[in-house]
Amino acid sequence: MTARLTAREITLRYGDRVVSTRLSLDVPDGAFTAIVGPNGCGKSTLLRAFVRLLRPDGGHVELDGREVGDYPAKALAKQLGFLPQDPQAPDDIKVRQLVGRGRFPYQSLLALWSKQDEEAVTGAMAAAGVTDLADRPVQELSGGQRQRVWMAMVLAQQTPYLLLDEPTSFLDITHQYQLLGLLATLRDQGRTVIAVLHDINQACRFADHLVAMKDGRVAAEGDPTDIVDAALIKDVFDLPSVIVPDPVTDTPMVVPTLQGE
Ligand SMILES: Nc1ncnc2c1ncn2[C@@H]1O[C@H](COP(=O)(O)OP(=O)(O)O)[C@@H](O)[C@H]1O
Ligand SMILES: [Mg+2]
Repeated sequence: MTARLTAREITLRYGDRVVSTRLSLDVPDGAFTAIVGPNGCGKSTLLRAFVRLLRPDGGHVELDGREVGDYPAKALAKQLGFLPQDPQAPDDIKVRQLVGRGRFPYQSLLALWSKQDEEAVTGAMAAAGVTDLADRPVQELSGGQRQRVWMAMVLAQQTPYLLLDEPTSFLDITHQYQLLGLLATLRDQGRTVIAVLHDINQACRFADHLVAMKDGRVAAEGDPTDIVDAALIKDVFDLPSVIVPDPVTDTPMVVPTLQGE
């Protein structure tokens, strides 16, 4: 496993609230990594550190051996595409315009909007299934439609790394699987995907590498088939379950045994 994107013993905090202490994670290159864990365990905080929206208080986040904080903004944005958990669109912006914002790392006074930018935007909208929404104001869309528009914006950025914070949270089940399938295809084409997912069974099905977090720590990581068992689910989610093979993919499938009370 090679990792060009790594966190080394990072401590992450908001003021006095320490979220993670000396956390280390290598993001396997060219793989689909899924991060799972209970609410508030620090998944979003970790992704924000990788894309340097949060500066670690000790430790290092590096891409190719260089601190992410030391990259010029556009150079880093050509490498790392980030979909936040709760992105906010500017008022009155139309879908195509918002997707076009994904091209900002390629714009400058000398490099105005090009045919390449146009093609990237058109391709990204098609991949995310939002071509038909091109002229709609973003604020009028449903939560799921909007989430796919944000995904298109990140795809238009054409980065080798995709860091996605709950990219399926607002999608109906069909669109969830379509998006996860798209991410798997992008991985097959050589991109590195790191996604926070809430559905552990989807994570087991699609991810090559699973990172289970608890209380700001990595509780377990590895091939889902190697690490997911009832003890891990109990430990990380405090949920009693049985694990059965997914009938379609044979990957681990968590079936909770809680039935009310
Ligand atoms: N901007 C913030 N200021 C203060 N505390 C925060 C902030 N964002 C998140 N936290 C806290 O940090 C912890 C981890 O949050 P987060 O990384 O968002 O969790 P997750 O994404 O795993 O649900 C939580 O206790 C949360 O309340
Ligand atoms: Mg989160």
